[in-house]
Amino acid sequence: MTERTITHAPSTEPRTACPSAPQDGTPRWLRTYHRKERPAVRLVCFPHAGGAATAFSRLSAALPDDIELLAVQYPGRQDRDTEPCAEDIAALAAGAAAALMPYTDLPLFLLGHSLGAIAAFETARLLEKHGSLAGLFVSAAQPPAQDWQEPDLDTLDDDAVVAGLRRLGGVSDVLLRNPQSRHEVLRLLRADHHVLRGYHCDPHTTLTVPVTVLLGAEDPKNTLEQVRDWARHTTAGHTVEVHSGGHFAMTERAGDIAELLVRHIHEHLAAGPAGPPADLVRDIYLAGADGRASRPSTDLTALQDAAREVLTPTAYGYVAGDAGTGATRRANREAFDRWRIMPRMLRGATHRDLTVPLFGHRLSAPVLLAPVAAQTVVHPEGELAAVHGATDAGVSFVLSSFSSHSMEEVAATAGGQPRWFQLYWPSEPEVAESLVRRAEASGYSALVLTVDSPVFGYRPADLDHGYLPFLHGAGLANFTTDPAFQAALPPDADAAAVIARWAAISTNPALTWDGLAWLRELTALPILLKGILHPDDARLALAHGMDGVIVSNHGGRQLDGTMATLDCLPAVRAAVGPAVPVLMDSGVRTGSDVLKALALGADAVLLGRPYQYGLALGGRSGVRHVLRCLLAEFDLALALSGCTDIRDLGKDMVAPAGTVAVPPQEQCDKI
Ligand code: FNR
Ligand code: LAC
Repeated sequence: MTERTITHAPSTEPRTACPSAPQDGTPRWLRTYHRKERPAVRLVCFPHAGGAATAFSRLSAALPDDIELLAVQYPGRQDRDTEPCAEDIAALAAGAAAALMPYTDLPLFLLGHSLGAIAAFETARLLEKHGSLAGLFVSAAQPPAQDWQEPDLDTLDDDAVVAGLRRLGGVSDVLLRNPQSRHEVLRLLRADHHVLRGYHCDPHTTLTVPVTVLLGAEDPKNTLEQVRDWARHTTAGHTVEVHSGGHFAMTERAGDIAELLVRHIHEHLAAGPAGPPADLVRDIYLAGADGRASRPSTDLTALQDAAREVLTPTAYGYVAGDAGTGATRRANREAFDRWRIMPRMLRGATHRDLTVPLFGHRLSAPVLLAPVAAQTVVHPEGELAAVHGATDAGVSFVLSSFSSHSMEEVAATAGGQPRWFQLYWPSEPEVAESLVRRAEASGYSALVLTVDSPVFGYRPADLDHGYLPFLHGAGLANFTTDPAFQAALPPDADAAAVIARWAAISTNPALTWDGLAWLRELTALPILLKGILHPDDARLALAHGMDGVIVSNHGGRQLDGTMATLDCLPAVRAAVGPAVPVLMDSGVRTGSDVLKALALGADAVLLGRPYQYGLALGGRSGVRHVLRCLLAEFDLALALSGCTDIRDLGKDMVAPAGTVAVPPQEQCDKI
């Protein structure tokens, strides 16, 4: 075997034959340095421009027994040096994807370094329909639709290219000093650059697996701002991991990088297999055949009683409680029961697309966690556990202003899914502005301004307990960490003083439509008004520069006896037209509920109490369980109603209960 790698290739590196390496002259696309007895996943690594499979030998050595590394060998180098280099990225991706087909028995993670990231991305696109693709790691690489602004190396002389290589590191000086190896380095680099410069990607190209971006803090070629745009190329969330080292940390600090990769891969394994949400059902049956039962219940309506057993009466009263007699909460559920799905048959139901574009991002499913205050009342890890659970399930969340962990702490915990911040508008403008600025700075991509709570509703459960969590110090983290809030408190302020100040300024009952102009001026983030029921209020929201509405009655916690949200939804949708984002919540409990809400005009729904019950019962895994169950049931509901794309859900998919089989459209409109 000839070793003319231009990367670090320690002569002591262990070598075993590639498992797919036929000895019959067929191109060898994959190499394995450390074969694993019983791997749980495979990590497939794509080298940088001018690089070769051996770039990953150290990384391979640093991986545990359950992760087997396969390194891609591009044509034209090392043991493939008799072949011409690839003409384009498509050829690299097609070759690698074909070679990987025998390996789709286990979850596959692809990892691409620099140019390799683009090759890995394109290979991922080819592989994802086979179901075993679990995620993509990209290192030291700008997103595919960005212009990498690589120089045309054909216009530079050898010395200039070598000078550039030395600045970037990654190629040993020994290789660059030896005329023969230097020539080989430059030949490969020029060929690979040619491939990269010829590559173009539509900015809307997305994968359905999570993308983890690795960035060396001292990488001269890439900035955090640039690599963040990888978010646009996945519907399953992206994470950026900034590590120490430069452009070639992948090879120079293989041990550190291995640690990082292992953490992500193990988190993925703990979270369960990727695949369509409905796969949960298969997994539960298989686990059952193995003697393992699914806990808590998969019937999300049963979780309330189970949560009651584990929560204190005050916590349970706060979460489960309603305003007044509970008439609004009941109405919400009754409305879901009044609408019936009208399924269609024989339309093909193998693949369902659950993704939904909202405000420039693509959510992996039309479900978000609703903002819920003071979650440490329910579980010691509060919002952090809930957000972990949401991330595991690929679901976005809306963080309450009244969270028990600060928005920055929550952001640091969150995965790559878009996150939104719910604003209770403080009556002190300095505090309001500070909260908004902090939300912007910590990566919340939309504001949800709740307008149905100028005051708290009349809630007998809480009143009978004489209990409001905030007065016990829960749910104040965004205020206790806020400089503008703290500025008006003496340095020695005790808990009672903090709570008193929070109670005095945390909401603004005087707010009117005209007041919205201030917020609109303040931020460029999209703003949604939450708590809209009347279509005229939806129109007013647009007239005042808002970007969307959430049809909500706060889950029946505010005004007793209001309209059900599902009953308000069609008129709100009609009022704002088809293009404005309309979300809804209050009473969503099942996958069929989600389907009905979408059919009646919602772009997405928010889930409130059920995930709180999951949090009470199992922390992070409880929230994950609730979301997975809801998405699985929704996914199945789509399949069973003959709908493969949520964009096809319209009023023709539902009918009011008790009407004739195909009611005239006007009749539906009236309900
Ligand atoms: C809420 N909700 C809420 N809404 C909001 O805008 N800001 C908040 O801080 C809270 N806090 C809160 C606490 C608790 C314990 C609950 C149950 C709810 C309302 C929430 O966002 C959502 O509108 C409802 O929960 C939706 O109804 P379901 O799903 O609970 O029926
Ligand atoms: C609630 C508030 C905080 O529903 O929105 O309790």
